[in-house]
Amino acid sequence: MKILAIDTSCDDTSSAVVVDDRVASNIIMSQDEIHKNYGGIVPEIAARTHFLHIAEAVKRALFVSGNTFKDIDKIAVTKGPGLIGSLLVGVSYAKGAAYRFNKKLVGVNHLEGHLYAPFIGKVVEYPFIALVVSGGHTALYKVLNSNDIQIIGRTLDDAAGECLDKTARLWHLGYPGGKAIDIISRAGNPKRFKFPRIAFLHGNFSFSGLKTAAIRFGAENPDAVKNDLADVASSFLEAVVDTLILHCIKACRKENIDRLAVSGGVSANKRLREKLKQTCVGERIELIFPDIEFTTDNAAMIGYTAFLKGESESFDMDAISSIAL
Ligand code: KG4
Ligand code: ZN
Repeated sequence: MKILAIDTSCDDTSSAVVVDDRVASNIIMSQDEIHKNYGGIVPEIAARTHFLHIAEAVKRALFVSGNTFKDIDKIAVTKGPGLIGSLLVGVSYAKGAAYRFNKKLVGVNHLEGHLYAPFIGKVVEYPFIALVVSGGHTALYKVLNSNDIQIIGRTLDDAAGECLDKTARLWHLGYPGGKAIDIISRAGNPKRFKFPRIAFLHGNFSFSGLKTAAIRFGAENPDAVKNDLADVASSFLEAVVDTLILHCIKACRKENIDRLAVSGGVSANKRLREKLKQTCVGERIELIFPDIEFTTDNAAMIGYTAFLKGESESFDMDAISSIAL
């Protein structure tokens, strides 16, 4: 089964070719250089840039994998959730190509794509607890099988990535913020400053308090933000990491499941990977992370999910900005 996949849910234009459960190509055309001038993603510009990049991304994905449209069995595309203008570009392109080349069309939920990304190149073993932690989402799921995915906790306000991005912007650390904090904090002392861990909300997350703490910290300690940036960033990141780990372990214990799959852009974070690995060894929990290239938005995870689930849809399929998993 050869699947051409497309993801244009947010600001990266991505196309991949997935052959059964193997990724043959995964092209990501980043828009960071454009949006960094605004300090965040501008939806209208993201959609227009997808429009300019989509044909090139698909062409490259086919070329790198050594295929043409003729060799492809199905076209999979992210139908939501995401920015509606961005989603529409991918969905319209996928529909057009599927119609022109007479291929089956598969609509994939972006969150489900993230959720299965850790298993690319491995065998999916059920049940597992899934943490999807990105710029738009932070949620925990109990996954019993591919048709039984239950949400067991979500953020009540900001996503973890959003909290990292907004704080990085506040402290002028660079763009995209999560990655900038990851790199700066590596030289820092995570115990130097205190930031709150907000953890007991019936299994739900909340990151807006931590964001407010960062604003207050900056106002009260302008010299620290200037002169001890690595320690400040590292202490702040530690609070995000500890909060995520606490929820994951609690969920595994409560649901009595000893397999944890962590995905989404924030799962690229070095400190989160190291600390969660250590914790899971102690807790005897099997921990699965995606390869780094499958953490942030990518079409390979969409193709892989289409391979796992694979229901075709009609040409009436629409982009939907907000769909649950
Ligand atoms: O999955 P993703 O590409 O897009 C969404 O679906 O939201 O995730 C983007 C998020 C951003 O908030 C970005 O700052 C964060 O992932 N991120 C990171 C790292 N790389 C990306 N956060 C922490 N450490 C990183 N290395
Ligand atoms: Zn995403």
